Amino acid sequence: MSTPKRYTITAALPYTNGPIHIGHLAGVYVPADIYARYLKMQGEVVVFVCGSDEHGVPITIKAKKEGVSPQDVVDKYDGIIRKSFQDFGIAFDNYSRTSAKIHHETAAAFFEKLYKEGKFIEEVTQQLYDDEAQQFLADRFVIGTCPKCGNEESYGDQCEKCGTSHNATDLINPKSAITGNVPVLKETKHWFLPLDQYEPWLKEWILDSHKKDWKPNVYGQCKSWIDDGLRPRAVTRDLDWGIPVPVAGGEGKVLYVWFDAPIGYISATKEWAARENKDWEPYWKDQDTKLVHFIGKDNIVFHCIIFPSMLKAEGSYILPDNVPANEFLNLEGNKLSTSKNWAVWLHEYLEDFPGKEDVLRYVLTANAPETKDNDFTWKDFQQRNNSELVAILGNFINRVVVLTHKYYDAEVPEPGQLNETDENILAELRAYPAVIASSIEKYRFREAQAEMMNVARLGNKYLADEEPWKTIKTDEARTKTVMYVALQVAAALSSICQPFLPFTAKKLSTILNLKKNISWPQIASAEALLAPQHVIGKASLLFEKIEDDAIAKQLEKLENTKKMNQAEQKSVEGQKETATFEDFTKIDLRVGTIVSAEKMPKTKKLLVLKVDTGLDTRTIVSGIAEHFSPEEVVGKQVTVLVNLAPRKLRGTLSEGMILMTENAQGELVFVNPDEAQVNNGSTIA
Ligand code: 2FM
Ligand code: ZN
Repeated sequence: MSTPKRYTITAALPYTNGPIHIGHLAGVYVPADIYARYLKMQGEVVVFVCGSDEHGVPITIKAKKEGVSPQDVVDKYDGIIRKSFQDFGIAFDNYSRTSAKIHHETAAAFFEKLYKEGKFIEEVTQQLYDDEAQQFLADRFVIGTCPKCGNEESYGDQCEKCGTSHNATDLINPKSAITGNVPVLKETKHWFLPLDQYEPWLKEWILDSHKKDWKPNVYGQCKSWIDDGLRPRAVTRDLDWGIPVPVAGGEGKVLYVWFDAPIGYISATKEWAARENKDWEPYWKDQDTKLVHFIGKDNIVFHCIIFPSMLKAEGSYILPDNVPANEFLNLEGNKLSTSKNWAVWLHEYLEDFPGKEDVLRYVLTANAPETKDNDFTWKDFQQRNNSELVAILGNFINRVVVLTHKYYDAEVPEPGQLNETDENILAELRAYPAVIASSIEKYRFREAQAEMMNVARLGNKYLADEEPWKTIKTDEARTKTVMYVALQVAAALSSICQPFLPFTAKKLSTILNLKKNISWPQIASAEALLAPQHVIGKASLLFEKIEDDAIAKQLEKLENTKKMNQAEQKSVEGQKETATFEDFTKIDLRVGTIVSAEKMPKTKKLLVLKVDTGLDTRTIVSGIAEHFSPEEVVGKQVTVLVNLAPRKLRGTLSEGMILMTENAQGELVFVNPDEAQVNNGSTIA
């Protein structure tokens, strides 16, 4: 593509079922913000959009858990998330919500168009259904074993371990996340996007055209999915929370959240354009627009395969030019986890470190998980603040400003003849914008920020070598020149640091009393950035040292979280609800002996047992294969629930359940571990 006329930059719409943490900021929002700020500073035409992802199962699960409505959940977290973005200077042109009317209309119209043009397959299929909850189990309502990597906690639509996106019916040993029941299959009609039909095009578009410019992690994931073969993908769901399916036969169904959410980028652009009195269409339909999606690695399939196929099917939209997805950030060596509260929540960070928004932005960019998962540690946070932000950038600016006040009453001095060292410093300074721009344009934000810090290093070294605090006593003219040059470096920094450290850039502009922002082309030119006689503002510290006790407090917080998680795991499960005597008498427990056992093919957990119950010898399928080999259990006497309703497990009818428990080490043990001493068929009461 030739130089684009405009840019549409999107950042993944966060699910509105909880606040956001450092992982979100590092993986998606800070890089997207750096990129958008950089482009805007270069005078490019940019729209930078995001919004709350307010549909989908996680929100209804949260609402159920809290006993409130899904709307209450999204209203609460939309407010919290919105504020966190503002607090950290993530400067969206528009932050919308998928509950907005404009989004419902846009997504419904998109669906309708594809429907009318025959782009969907309409099919009645068997889907997982929870009889007790009386509900189909879509997406996160079902958990089971991932058919690709064997992760036993995979969701119905996606495995968080290997990133595979699948259909809920692909899961091995599916279980309802609502009741824990094994679901049954029930017929229902849905609309499918035939991704298989887009395979040849996707091969050409991604595998051939984007081999060089997409990040290897993104390209690699796409290749693996395409090589595995794509299958039609349902874009509707039997749920009551979401955007109603707008066509006949769609009553009681909603659009799949991953169908509506990316359309949210379009709705957010429309909403912004209406507010700004602009035309939204060129931002999505003009081939001269560069569309870039910032996301985390778990979103790759949706942004590189599914959404582009939707756009292609619709026909009038541009496709993403790049999808610079990041890997994940860990915290102190462990995976960030909302449910385990293993996170640094942005709103909590600001309570503990008020005014230190840029410090977190800086540390997260310095450790951005650009090519591999990376770790955030509080020690590193302290070290980067104290040894880089305070000791290099802050120290340089402070020295320049304090000395300018002291020697020249805050006025930029008139330089004398520049010597070779001065010329070299200014030449190096002029080269930096291009170097940093090149890294940013390649989505290498760590590298770009490191170069920004090198500008401050350059200034620091210059002052240390020239020692104006000494020459002031011996050579006033030389000192003026040195201070003039150092002030130019300081002025350049106010602009160079802007995409990375927007709050600091503002502070620095005030300290230097800049009337208007300095542009990067200005820095690259030979023009004076701060002219002689310009009066700078008052000195104030850009950064403060972070003391050991502040870090110890954070580590202690995490230690407490760890302890609480451990305690929770160890705690005895609460007593279940009261069973009446009649309930109890219904249960028929007998002593039985396992007479044969074999592994259920293609499963990790299941053993098919033949158990002599005294009444008969029957088949019982039991999930103990990871704890016992078939040989180990044969001959063991066990407690058997004999009147449990028979049910089919992976095609085998299981007629009862054997009772086991866990010992203190978490190992499965037989309730009756002694060798056979009781007659089979004896009742247990
Ligand atoms: O993973 C997530 O948090 C999703 N809510 C991201 C959606 S991105 C987009 F398509 F809207
Ligand atoms: Zn998996």
